[in-house]
Amino acid sequence: MGWFGKKLKQEHKVMLQHERAAGAQLPEYHRATPECAHPERWSMIDSMTAEVEVLELLATLVTTLKPELVVETGSFLGVSTEWIARGLERNGRGRVISCEFDPVVYAKAKERLAGSPLLPWMELRNESSLEMTVEGTIDLLFADSDPELREAEVKRYLPQMNPHGLIVIHDASSHLKTVREAALTMEREGLLRVLLLPTPRGLVLAQPRQS
Ligand SMILES: C[S@@+](CC[C@H](N)C(=O)[O-])C[C@H]1O[C@@H](n2cnc3c(N)ncnc32)[C@H](O)[C@@H]1O
Repeated sequence: MGWFGKKLKQEHKVMLQHERAAGAQLPEYHRATPECAHPERWSMIDSMTAEVEVLELLATLVTTLKPELVVETGSFLGVSTEWIARGLERNGRGRVISCEFDPVVYAKAKERLAGSPLLPWMELRNESSLEMTVEGTIDLLFADSDPELREAEVKRYLPQMNPHGLIVIHDASSHLKTVREAALTMEREGLLRVLLLPTPRGLVLAQPRQS
């Protein structure tokens, strides 16, 4: 039981855990899957923020691909947004637009990032990924909002994707079936070419099919 005696929404519960952890890293908590037998070898800050190794990969993808426009769905506390921005800062160009649907979580992310030297590279929006409009060609899309929405999100932004761009979809392990199945469905539909990385929570690397 939490605020005003009501059950806390999962995002709000993890938000408080994140504050208490103060940046300390823990072993990844997801259970083993056939494709990832030792999740405890990975690290996490909390159960909502992507695995630390995935955060590092995001920054490296940004420095490798030099995107002008990165779109992220599901900011949570803005930790992955910051890692993307770190890559952009190193590139000296580009920007990341990240949306967070929940106003309480959005306010906390804004508060956490206030004064960050990475702010010039990031734009946080309190919007739903299924309603947000962004202008321009998307070079890198990181889909990390509600698992049930990932397919709709990717389909929403696909027409705006750079044909040589990259789509990264989180939570695609065989244990978290919804996202994995959504990615494979879009591959069967001829929309994407898909790689399934065997990380604890699972990660899809995909490209638009026409490229
Ligand atoms: C897994 S967390 C994101 C973690 C973050 N990307 C990171 O690694 O630091 C998912 C977030 O998506 C938000 N969310 C859920 N549905 C959404 C939607 N339709 N649009 C934008 N954000 C959404 C949730 O409130 C939650 O904060």
